[in-house]
Amino acid sequence: MTTQQLLSQSLEQVVERMGDPAPLVYQRLFERSPELLPMFVGDDRGSVRAEMFLRAIDTLTDLAGERHYAAGMIASEWSNHHMNGVTTGQFESFFEIIVEVCQQALGADWTPEIDAAWRGTLARVTDVTARASAGG
Ligand code: HEM
Repeated sequence: MTTQQLLSQSLEQVVERMGDPAPLVYQRLFERSPELLPMFVGDDRGSVRAEMFLRAIDTLTDLAGERHYAAGMIASEWSNHHMNGVTTGQFESFFEIIVEVCQQALGADWTPEIDAAWRGTLARVTDVTARASAGG
């Protein structure tokens, strides 16, 4: 199975088990980084959070495969978010928390192969953010 298939398949399993993982991802994010909560005060219907979550998932899935747009997407979102005061560590933590929540949802079914696929993809994220934060 390809890395992209491993990600997609494990995401499907996560949704089967827990439904939409986004609420738990945001709960974790705000527990760990309460200073980020005020950034979302205007998002009273949750549409920004929902869009951000879906885009992060799409980006990870693309990054794991042929990477048509993922690197550019991460670099440009990193830059937008940086201007809004989101640090590189905070930006990356969103992706990391997504993986953490998926791992927890799958429990014993989180195989070493699935783990390697997600960790490898996270490493690609940090390659892109490191290049972006170094100025190109
Ligand atoms: C902890 C890390 C992050 C924080 C605190 C954060 C914060 C925000 C905030 C406050 C907005 C609304 C901006 C506005 O409307 O002016 C936003 C929008 C957005 N963020 Fe993030 N973000 C984070 C990580 C990410 C990551 C990793 C992605 C990756 C794809 C991402 C993608 C987006 C997108 C696509 C939008 C636009 C959504 C919309 O306006 O409908 N964000 N983010």
